[in-house]
Amino acid sequence: MAVRSPVINVMAAAALKAARGLIRDFGEVEQLQVSIKGPNDFVSAADLKAERTLKTELSRVRPGYSMLFEEGGATEGSDKRHRWIVDPLDGTHNFLHGIPHFCISIGLERDGEIVAGVVYEPTRDELYWAEKGAGAYLNDRRLRVSARRLLSEAIIGTGIPANKSGDPAGYGVVLSRVIAATSGVRRFGAAALDLAYVAAGRLDGFWEFGLSPWDIAAGMLLVREAGGYVSDLAGGHEMMANGNVLAANDHLHLPLAALIREASRAG
Ligand code: IPD
Ligand code: CA
Ligand code: CA
Repeated sequence: MAVRSPVINVMAAAALKAARGLIRDFGEVEQLQVSIKGPNDFVSAADLKAERTLKTELSRVRPGYSMLFEEGGATEGSDKRHRWIVDPLDGTHNFLHGIPHFCISIGLERDGEIVAGVVYEPTRDELYWAEKGAGAYLNDRRLRVSARRLLSEAIIGTGIPANKSGDPAGYGVVLSRVIAATSGVRRFGAAALDLAYVAAGRLDGFWEFGLSPWDIAAGMLLVREAGGYVSDLAGGHEMMANGNVLAANDHLHLPLAALIREASRAG
């Protein structure tokens, strides 16, 4: 039986509380798909409401911690050693379109290092959590990354740049190389969950460029604590600064990184 530490309990309780609102709002969004006005404004409000709940819950139990929230930005607390890094709704476009694949992501940084992470997927009631040195779990089950050794047998997750950002043409070159080398590529639309799926061995690897700290803080710890490896595109560890993330098990990380790096130069 997995024993959750007090800080994981705090994070999980905050996520579950915010998720109750998201689930209610998601039901409404499904109705709004067919309305003329559409669900856009409603979803922005749902996102902000989830953020408010998370902020209130986390600061009630750990007053003074600094914070980095996607919508509200950075707030410096009296405790500068600790910082919550939170995405209240990851997978907004899925949520907006009534696709039940989205999550809440909460990372806790101590002295610049992520030490605890929670990713909660409300529609499946799946709580992924990890604490540095204590392993990664899905609800009460210990997680391990997949054991696949061959890229040709691997399923790799990715994030496709939106049309207004990134470099779609360069990305296309990378994507076509990965398609050719693997058993398949998936684009699920919530980066924190993509990383959680790597931790759970559902995906054998994942890469995306241009992510933000709140997309990856919790997920990267999940992968590491499940025995996987995470780096940036150059093989370094500046993911929080440059937003480029490459995660996989130990066997696949090197060949996948080499493939993507080479394709990025070509693209
Ligand atoms: C997005 C999702 C998506 C990824 C984007 C992110 P949001 O976050 O994680 O999968 O491809 O880069 O911005 O906007 O849904 O919180
Ligand atoms: Ca996000
Ligand atoms: Ca978000």
